[in-house]
Amino acid sequence: MSTSEHPPTVLLGITGCIAAYKACELVRLLKKAGQRVKVVMTPAACEFVTPTTLRTLSEEPVALDPVDDPAAPIHHISLAQEADVLVIAPATANTLNKLAAGVADNLLTTTALACAAPLIVAPAMNTHMWRDEATQTALAVLRQRGAVLIEPETGELACGDVGEGRLAAVEQIAEAVLAELRRSRDLVGRRILVTAGPTREYIDPVRFISNPSSGITGFAVAEEAARRGAEVILVSGPVTLPDPFGCTVIRVESAEQMLAAAELHFHGLDAAVFTAAVADFRPAERATQKLKKTAGTPVLELVRNPDILTTLAGRPAGTSGANGAGAADAADAAGASGATSATSASAVGQRPYIVGFAAETEDVELHAREKLAAKGAHLIVANDVSAPGLGFASNQNSWLFVSAEASEPTGVQPKRTLANLLLDRIVQSLC
Ligand code: CTP
Repeated sequence: MSTSEHPPTVLLGITGCIAAYKACELVRLLKKAGQRVKVVMTPAACEFVTPTTLRTLSEEPVALDPVDDPAAPIHHISLAQEADVLVIAPATANTLNKLAAGVADNLLTTTALACAAPLIVAPAMNTHMWRDEATQTALAVLRQRGAVLIEPETGELACGDVGEGRLAAVEQIAEAVLAELRRSRDLVGRRILVTAGPTREYIDPVRFISNPSSGITGFAVAEEAARRGAEVILVSGPVTLPDPFGCTVIRVESAEQMLAAAELHFHGLDAAVFTAAVADFRPAERATQKLKKTAGTPVLELVRNPDILTTLAGRPAGTSGANGAGAADAADAAGASGATSATSASAVGQRPYIVGFAAETEDVELHAREKLAAKGAHLIVANDVSAPGLGFASNQNSWLFVSAEASEPTGVQPKRTLANLLLDRIVQSLC
């Protein structure tokens, strides 16, 4: 991680491939761009270029196997923690397959497994190795986890074959690394609230109304926002996910508790992202004891839950929702002025940037536009929850960004990538 002592750190993994010599040029380009570069070499990489060359170019010690450095007894962990981005260039088929399977058998693969920083891989290999199903499956797995793939070029290869497999241009790899680094700090000084997961509306002490939301999307948005430097408050309904690193996490159960927690932290915000799948209704009464079958079939009366997004969307960023009497007034005022306040330029300056989600099963864009207007959001992220293999229980999804100006589809992407696309838009709007 970057500190006051040094700029952001690029951890460059070099694997055993003839294109390893091009990593020298990559180090030079990144250093010229003002980055700190720390190199990790696999034993096979040292057969192609020497650690001395890389140490000279990077002006840093080169990390090598075997790990016997008394100054760095848990070297893979300290390297992983230092990294703002991990780029493996060139990446062999062998290393890609190991990364996909979580194999940790040398310093680079062990470090990669321990590293939470974004991963960029730039493969280089023979065409047949590139096309092999094992390699393509490994790449699909890595992309699904959010790794950035820099596709190899087509051309004449070292073995004499002509086809895909040549390492991408080092300028292209350097640009991808710099883009990831720009992202890594672009939310410093920003405060973001995220709601996530389902809510539970209790019928009696052991039964409740809920939905299958996994919370993955909200947790991914929160985690990525924190990684990009934001102060993040995550208010989550019951999910099995662990607290994302670097976020203040408030666990709640019901919609009313979620609203209360979100209100309490709705001050000084730059953006609020409402990913939670809030139950729209709750039982009018919660039985204090378990309902018994013998007492007959109960008839449930439901009442509407508060709409958390609509309640908070009109509040100014500087208002303390917890204590400020003005908060509720501001919300009322915004509600009274209707949807136009959401998209007017002056309102954008006064309120946090508000993002709502729309889970739909039909007429996705139409319903998203209705919610944009009705809820007072700047952006609605719409998705078709009826699409097979996507959404609730899946790690990937396909979104449609709906704003007053445009509708833009993302295509199918891992949820971590989608989270970053959303944060890119938030950064843009805050600029
Ligand atoms: N939302 C909320 N509080 C609620 C209901 C929804 O904050 N009580 C927010 C969600 O977090 C989401 C957006 O409103 O950002 C839209 O939620 P969605 O479930 O798609 O729509 P609803 O408003 O519940 O409308 P409907 O179920 O009729 O589609």
